[in-house]
Order: sequence, then C-alpha cells, then structure tokens
Amino acid sequence: MRVLVADKVEEALINRLEGRFQVDYFPGISRDDLIGIIGEYDVLVVRSRTKVDKELLDRGKRLKLVARAGVGLDNIDVEYAVGKGIKVVNAPGAPAPSVAELTVGLMISVARRIPNYVQAVKSGEWPKGLYGGVELSGKVLGIVGFGRIGRQVAKIARSLDMDILTYDVVDVSDHAREYGVKVVGLMELLRDSHVITLHVPLTRETYHMLNDETLKMVRDGAIIINTSRGEVIDAAALLRHIDRFWGVGLDVLEHEPPKTEEERELLRHPKVIVTPHVGSETREAQLRIAEELAERIVEEVGRP
Ligand code: 3PG
Repeated sequence: MRVLVADKVEEALINRLEGRFQVDYFPGISRDDLIGIIGEYDVLVVRSRTKVDKELLDRGKRLKLVARAGVGLDNIDVEYAVGKGIKVVNAPGAPAPSVAELTVGLMISVARRIPNYVQAVKSGEWPKGLYGGVELSGKVLGIVGFGRIGRQVAKIARSLDMDILTYDVVDVSDHAREYGVKVVGLMELLRDSHVITLHVPLTRETYHMLNDETLKMVRDGAIIINTSRGEVIDAAALLRHIDRFWGVGLDVLEHEPPKTEEERELLRHPKVIVTPHVGSETREAQLRIAEELAERIVEEVGRP
C-alpha cells in the first residue's frame, strides 16, 4: 500500500503511517505534479488546500481511500469518490476545542478592538479609549450549526454569561437542553443575536447563507464571526452592511489567500479582523487529528 500525503500534517501522522505503509510526504505539492503521480498511490491524505475533484479521482487509478486530516470535506468530491468505490474518511471531533477557542478569541478581539489597539501601540501611539469596546457578558450569542464546534463554543460562552440561541437543520434539541441553549429558526437567531457565529459545513444549502436578504435581519451593532467556510458569507453583501455592525472576525475566506476585490476590501476595513484559516492550527488539535486519522486509515485499508 502506498500513501501520498499532499498537505502539511503533524509529523506524528507520518510516523504512524510509516510503520505500516510506504509513505511519500510531499506537503504543498502542485496540482500538476499531483495529477502526474496520483496514479501510483492507494491512499491520498489531504487538508483543505488540495482539491480532490473528478479529474484527480479519475487519475487515481489505484486509489482506495482519501483521508482528510481535519473536518471539512467540501474540497473533496465525496459523491464521485464513493461512486468509484473510493472511501473518504476524516477526523471530525479532533479540532473542535481549538476552533471553538479561536472563535471566542475572535469574538473578544472584535468586541474590545484588541488588534486595533495592539497595532497602534506597536507603532508608537498610546490611543487609550480611541476605539471603544463592548462587553459580551449578558449579550445574546447566536450559534448557527450546533455540531461539535458549535457546542464547544456554547460551553465557553456560558462561562461569559451570554444567553445562547442556536439554529441547525437537524434536530439538536437534546444537545441544546444539555447545554442550556434555546433552539430557534434562522431568521429569529439573526434578528435577536448580538453576536452571530457560524459553524456549518459548506454545502449547496449553506453557500452564501449570509447574503443581502439575511444580513438585513441582523441588528445594528452586531458582531459576526466566521470560522467555518468563507463561502457561507457573501463577501460583497457583507461589505454593503458592515458599517451598521460593530465588527466582523473571520478565519476563512472564499479564496485563501484572498483573490477578489471584495475580499481585499474586507481585509482593509477597520471593523474587520482576519486570521489565515488557523482554527485547527494548534499542536494539540493536529496531534489528535494525527491519532484519529491514522486509526481510520489503518481500519479502512491497513488490515490484511
Ligand atoms: C477543517 O475543516 O478541518 C478546518 O477548517 C481546518 O482546515 P485545514 O486542515 O486546512 O487547516
């Protein structure tokens, strides 16, 4: 069995796989090179950078498994892979605490304008009071998507004394009861929340879920956080509404790195802070991903 690891992963994953398989680790391999060599491999390991589309899957004549070292499967044509008899696995639980911590970090950073102050002080100013701030305690937090990450955010937000609403397309009432959270419709959540945070996978249904129509529902002075997928927010629409909001914290963009003029304008906007898709980039999360994924790969293709 030959394994190709096409994106940067924790060393522990390579070590675990090397005990059982012949592993080639080519993090950051170009699309053309990948297309050229994929035919020699049984297993492909990727993160979100590598697009595993029909063309790549067709070239992977020997492929039995695509393993995603993380949660999101939107960069993989799962339906097509499964149709060809190629299995797809991921590590859905492993990064949740790290993504939730970054989410709350962005919430507090936006609320207190921490990046604006830090930047000013570093450049020699002492602008005490210039940017103002708002408190999260006592405010309403709307969590869109109450999966593992959404629930972890709720757990932390409760300790900040926030009231929590959630919306999900599946029935999350048991979890909501357990976490002391109220389940509402999307429109109600958008209308009633002071802070809105997105924790949904990218699907046809969630693409541009926040658009001109839905953003109209969001109250003035709200904070919006997105650590899920950039495409869930229509960047152009967000720009049209941003002046009404207190601020926006993003860890994801539709194009990473940013490509469109709207994205560049968003980055420049003083009310917007952006991190470069680092929700899962902690040592702990990457180690858990390595463990969980190595196990899944061995389960799927490593047993005689
Ligand atoms: C995920 O879906 O696991 C996160 O968005 C992280 O993606 P990454 O593995 O490309 O950092």
